[in-house]
Amino acid sequence: MGAKNSALKIIPAALLSGDNMVIKNTPYIKDIDKALSLLEDLGVKTEKNRRTIKINPKTINKTDLNAKIANKFRASIMFVGPLLARFKEVSFPHPGGCVIGAGGRPIDLFLDGFKHFGAEIIKNENNYKLKATKLKACDYFFTVVSVTATEALMMTAVLANGVTTLRNSAMEPEIKALADYLNSQGAKIKGAGTSTIKIEGVKKIKAGTFKIIPDRIETGSFAIMAAATRSKIRITRCKPDHIRALLEIFKKINIPFREGVDWLEINKPKKLRSYNIKTHEFPGFPTDLQSPFTVLMTQAEGSSLIHETIYDRRLLYVDMLSQMGADITMCDPHRVVVNGPTRLYGKNLTSPDLRAGIALVIAALIAQGKTKIDNIYQINRGYENIDARLRGLGAKIKKL
Ligand code: EPZ
Repeated sequence: MGAKNSALKIIPAALLSGDNMVIKNTPYIKDIDKALSLLEDLGVKTEKNRRTIKINPKTINKTDLNAKIANKFRASIMFVGPLLARFKEVSFPHPGGCVIGAGGRPIDLFLDGFKHFGAEIIKNENNYKLKATKLKACDYFFTVVSVTATEALMMTAVLANGVTTLRNSAMEPEIKALADYLNSQGAKIKGAGTSTIKIEGVKKIKAGTFKIIPDRIETGSFAIMAAATRSKIRITRCKPDHIRALLEIFKKINIPFREGVDWLEINKPKKLRSYNIKTHEFPGFPTDLQSPFTVLMTQAEGSSLIHETIYDRRLLYVDMLSQMGADITMCDPHRVVVNGPTRLYGKNLTSPDLRAGIALVIAALIAQGKTKIDNIYQINRGYENIDARLRGLGAKIKKL
């Protein structure tokens, strides 16, 4: 499936140009619909049939983001950079989104970055207004590595005057995919996918067709699910190289697999070995695979230290795994120790966030007895049609 975290950036990127854009291979998930309704509210014409989206930004008639829509998903912040770059003004509410990250979801890097480009920031009760007579290139160092802040400032720099340098940038594959597309439409971005990105501003860029890259987190989640349920699964139209950190660990914990450029086959594991992980920005172990991996470690021989370094509160779900029978000790808010293997038992659970949601589904698939998971909106946000797809693999799962 096309990557949610690529689609949610390429849709706002359509606002950098005045031409019609086509996006292919979009996943059917709620956040995409929200992004399109945000565009429609700005007066932009959008059309979606199956996995193709057409965007015609010519009729845009305002630059203030509709708070009711923008408040419902974190990625709404991705519209700010392109609107500021193209129209020199934008207003938006503080973004919503899942409850991971200290103090909701901070946007200090975005605001600080926009200021470096010369934008004036007026903060009202619960929204921000940005204005700039003209945007000048800047040299910006990210004091925290941030995926969306890197993408936001990279898009802003595309139309700023001069050469911008972004240092300590995030290096996720979705960032390189975005830069490759923008360059194909006339932008001049060098170094996307490394920690230093240089962008030479241009007057305007064209728009064309973008095919969304496979979702590496979905690939990793399914690969872990295969290992945890001791199933042989073949995943097609994926990019194994985008989950190298996970696959290198698979080699060390006895999970046999074969791979091609765009497919991955997981075979039945022998005795699963425990392993310590520490989440890290790309190319390290992705925080979005931390919760599925922790479920896998409940079935491994021995102790595994799971260290979540990116987000606060992204280990909340382990209480529910313990209720299911897992032997997990919370050492501190960022570290747990899992002892395995333990048998898990079905329970009634609630999904706290998107990735914990799929982890609970994996736990339910290996547990004895029936599990009921509430708040599956969080799962649908990132995993298209998950119940039907798992049924196709033999799971006994149904949406109530
Ligand atoms: C992106 O979120 C992804 N979301 C997340 O996926 C992913 O978990 C995350 O990157 C890390 O890989 C999208 O791309 C839409 P960050 P992002 O900014 O960019 C702090 C999912 O499950 N920070 O890289 O919002 C922040 O608090 C989602 O699909 C600031 O301090 O994450 C965090 O501790 C969840 N100030 C750290 O940076 C800021 O202005 C990394 O967050 C921005 C972020």
